[in-house]
Amino acid sequence: MKKVLTRHNSVSIWLLIGVLMILLQILIGGVTRLTDSGLSITEWNVIKGVLPPLNDSEWILSFEKYQSFAKKQYQTIHRDMSLDEFKTIFYWEYFHRLWARVMFLVYLIPLLFFMIQKKISLELFKGLALVFLLAGISGFLGWFMVKSGLQSDQRTWVSAYRLMFHLAFPALTLGVLFHVYIRYTYRLDFEIDKVSSRFIGFLLFLVYIQILLGALVSGMKGASSFPYFSLLMNWKVVGALWTDAFAQNANAFWDYESNISIKFLFHLFHRINAYLIFILASIHIMRQRTKLSYIFGVGLIVQIILGLATAMTSIPKVIIYLALLHQFWGFLIFLFLTFYRIRIQSKVCVR
Ligand code: HEM
Repeated sequence: MKKVLTRHNSVSIWLLIGVLMILLQILIGGVTRLTDSGLSITEWNVIKGVLPPLNDSEWILSFEKYQSFAKKQYQTIHRDMSLDEFKTIFYWEYFHRLWARVMFLVYLIPLLFFMIQKKISLELFKGLALVFLLAGISGFLGWFMVKSGLQSDQRTWVSAYRLMFHLAFPALTLGVLFHVYIRYTYRLDFEIDKVSSRFIGFLLFLVYIQILLGALVSGMKGASSFPYFSLLMNWKVVGALWTDAFAQNANAFWDYESNISIKFLFHLFHRINAYLIFILASIHIMRQRTKLSYIFGVGLIVQIILGLATAMTSIPKVIIYLALLHQFWGFLIFLFLTFYRIRIQSKVCVR
C-alpha cells in the first residue's frame, strides 16, 4: 500500500495515536488483572475518581472499604497485605481508569478541532462515532465487571464471563479504529481476491473468539487446570476432566472457582481453537507463499509457544510477564490480520 499525501497527515497521526492508546489500555488492564488489583477501587465516580487518596486518613478509608466490599478477595489472597502493598494494587486500577479518561480527551478535543477545520468527512465521522459508542460500552462493562466481585461471598475475583465482555468491546474498538485508520490513510483500489479475503476474514473472526476464550481462561485462573504441553500425551487426564465437566449441573458454570473441570473445559476450547487457527493459517500460507503470509505464520507460532509456556509454568501462580506477553502478542496478531485482510483485497490507486 502506498501512502497518499492528499490525506490530512494530522488526522492520520491522531488516529494512529488512538490505536496505540487503546493497545496500551488493554495491557494496563492485563497487569491490573494479573496483579489482582481490579477490586481495589470500590467506587465508581467519574469526576471525583480523577484524584487518588491524598492523605493518610483517605488511604486508610480506601483500604477499609476494600477490606469490606471485596471481603472474599481480601481474606482469601490479601489477608497479610500492608497499606503500602494496597497502594500498589490501588494505583494499577487507578492508572487503568485514569488512562480511560485521558483517551476520552485525546479523542474528543482533536475531533472537535478537526471538525471546525472541516477535516472530517461524513464517512470518517461515521467510523469515529462507532468507535465512540464501542468505547463507551467498554467503560460501562468495566464497571459492570467490577461490581460482580464486590460484596460477593461467592467470588474471589470478578466474574470471568463479565471479564470476557469487558475485553470483547475494547478488542472491537481497537479493530474498528485500526480499520478506520488504514482506510483513511491509504487510498485503496479494491481488486478483490474474494476467496482469500473471506478466508482471512474468517481467521480474524476465529482470532477474536480466541481472545474471548483467553479472557475466560484468564478470568477463571484456568491456566493451571492443565499445565501440560500436549493434549494427546495426557489423554487420560483430558478424558477424566472432560467427563467430569459434563457431569456437572448448569450451576457449576456459574460457581466455577473451585471447579477444576469447568476451568479445564474453557482451557481446552482455547487450545483447540488455537490449533484450528494454526491449521487454517498453514493452508493459507501454503497457497499464498508471500512475505506477509510468512510473517503471519511466524507470529502465530510465537503466540502458541507463549500460550503453552504460560500454561506450563502456571503452578503455583501464572508468571505475569509471560501471560502479559501472550496477551499483547495475541492483540498484535489481531491487528496484523485486520491489516492483512484489507491488504489482500486491494492494490493501491494513486490519485
Ligand atoms: C492463536 C493463538 C492464541 C491467541 C490469539 C491467544 C490469545 C490469548 C489472549 C488474548 C489471552 C488473554 C486474555 C485476557 O487478557 O484476558 C490469552 C490467555 C491465555 N492463553 Fe492464549 N492464545 C492463543 C493460543 C494459546 C495456546 C496454544 C495456549 C496453550 C495452552 C494458550 C494458553 C493461554 C492461557 C493459559 C491463558 C491465560 C493466562 C492468564 O492466566 O492470564 N493460548 N490467550
